[in-house]
Amino acid sequence: MSETQRFGVSIPKELLDKFDDMIADRGYRNRSEAIRDMIRDRIVEREWEEDEEVMGVVTLLYDHHQHHLSDKLTGLQHDFHQLVISTTHLHVDADNCLELIAVKGHGGEVRAMANKLISTKGVIHGKLLATSTGAGLS
Ligand code: NI
Repeated sequence: MSETQRFGVSIPKELLDKFDDMIADRGYRNRSEAIRDMIRDRIVEREWEEDEEVMGVVTLLYDHHQHHLSDKLTGLQHDFHQLVISTTHLHVDADNCLELIAVKGHGGEVRAMANKLISTKGVIHGKLLATSTGAGLS
């Protein structure tokens, strides 16, 4: 971790009040930690925009009775095996499955793979959680 520096910020009172309310709702005890997290969040967004190496989780909710859907989703993951770190399959109930696919790669290729999985016919709900390797965040 690098050296810590303090800096002052001029900000309209009304905006600061809104910020304080927002971070209190989210459980922050002080502004510094909230601001650090917001900066890191923006850096992570930029890592994805700049096609840097990133990490993420793709979630897929689907009905496993859908014809060939499980095979198709598994096939797609094999097509992109270099991006897939691990897959966890949860049998949610008698019909539905939730798959959690941990991924790592360049932002563009990870997003393309996630889009392919999520747009597969029969997937009820899919999301890409975009996060970071953490290399540039300390
Ligand atoms: Ni299942």
